Amino acid sequence: MFEIPTKEHDESRQGEAVLLEKDPKKSNGRKLYIESYGCQMNFSDSEIVASILLDKGFETTRDYKEADVVFINTCSIRENAEQRVRNRLKEFESAKAKNPGMVVGVLGCMAERLKSKFLEEEKLVDVVVGPDAYRDLPNLIEKVDEGSRAVNVLLSREETYADINPVRLNTNGVTAFISIMRGCDNMCSFCVVPFTRGRERSRDPQSIVREARDLFHAGYREVTLLGQNVDSYKYTAPVAEGEEPGPVVNFAALLEMVAGVDPLLRVRFSTSHPKDITDEVLYTMAKYENICKYIHLPVQSGNSRILKLMNRTYDREWYMERVDAIRRIIPDCGISTDIITGFCSETEAEHHDTLSMMDYVKYDFAYMFAYSERPGTLAAKRYADDIPEEIKKQRLTEVVDRQREHSLERLQTYVGKVHKVLIEGLSKRSDTDYCGRNDQNTMVVFPVDGRYRVGDYVQVYVDRCTSATLIGTIVD
Ligand code: 5AD
Ligand code: SF4
Repeated sequence: MFEIPTKEHDESRQGEAVLLEKDPKKSNGRKLYIESYGCQMNFSDSEIVASILLDKGFETTRDYKEADVVFINTCSIRENAEQRVRNRLKEFESAKAKNPGMVVGVLGCMAERLKSKFLEEEKLVDVVVGPDAYRDLPNLIEKVDEGSRAVNVLLSREETYADINPVRLNTNGVTAFISIMRGCDNMCSFCVVPFTRGRERSRDPQSIVREARDLFHAGYREVTLLGQNVDSYKYTAPVAEGEEPGPVVNFAALLEMVAGVDPLLRVRFSTSHPKDITDEVLYTMAKYENICKYIHLPVQSGNSRILKLMNRTYDREWYMERVDAIRRIIPDCGISTDIITGFCSETEAEHHDTLSMMDYVKYDFAYMFAYSERPGTLAAKRYADDIPEEIKKQRLTEVVDRQREHSLERLQTYVGKVHKVLIEGLSKRSDTDYCGRNDQNTMVVFPVDGRYRVGDYVQVYVDRCTSATLIGTIVD
């Protein structure tokens, strides 16, 4: 896997979930350990899982060896993501041998994809739970305690966990994710997500605004609204029979509602689909200073024939027009993307269309992947995975190299300017430096200044950069 800076959709990221904020209501004396892989949605789901189990008296631990319940929240998007999970499960084996009462559970996309096959393949696993069945976890753990193994992989058309107040895990106390919808109806031919996360459904906007407000009052200063395809967010309140349905809340309206919580609360969102991102959303972004000027707009390929095979439902011209609209309506907007190299039947000339699209847009960053065929997807059924691995890798290297040039070029345009930065914490490399992001989502590093604390906004004059980080000093 190649990438420039880290963010969502990176299956190599993993995190243990450790609760920093709240003690369980009444401890049941059992400890929970959760590890998450994959997209931000999975990390956000782990916070829902922790909330459900905390209500039942579990405490969280950072050390799986001392846990009574060990969960691994998995990603299926590429084969190597699944391989990592299998390797990790092997590492849990000796802990379970020492503590036979330990419950080991697989959650998320891989659980949904493999269902009860998981129990046959991995003798260590006691529970397999899909993304829509987390409310059933306490009951499933009980079944395991009674000596059975348990599976719930039912997908739902309604579940949004709207009423569950996620507990914030591994939090910096400043930035948080809010899940606004679940599932995906797009059926991109390479993608396993519609099969593992089910049909698209949007969460009640009032519960989203409430969550944002609660976070703000708890000191958070940035929320990222999460969904597989946020631009198709659509909510109509359910009504009694015979009553007129209320107005539809679309994504632009939701953004406006969340931006209205407080001007000091920054709002970000991810992921946008090029076919759905509307001028209305762009104008809403331009209108509110606290909606960050940054869009993650996965292109996947720059060639119209490949986009058609991918079932992306837009072509090269459409995508370029959407980028033109972004540049016109929000001139200072950062844009990032996802790119797949070596999709079925991709020719060298078609690969060059991806490179020329990159030259056209000049992305701030990109998440770049070699195509990995996933069982059950439309592409696996319809098309031969016929690009040799070394060609996929070679094209990936070309894309990564091109992106590195563009990232540096984009970052250089930020040098010599003052940026508004939200302080997120100390820099990873040095505890005499703070780090935080500018509006365009680029990391900025600058010396600690005793007058400002984590969670404050500061103006930073940027005087230099690397290909992923801006470096500067606070100015008054
Ligand atoms: N092979 C390679 N990359 C994939 N992605 C999704 N499915 C596959 C696959 N089968 C990438 C896409 C998507 C991102 C989340 O992961 O670029 O936008
Ligand atoms: Fe997968 Fe396409 Fe849905 Fe994204 S929009 S989750 S790539 S099917």
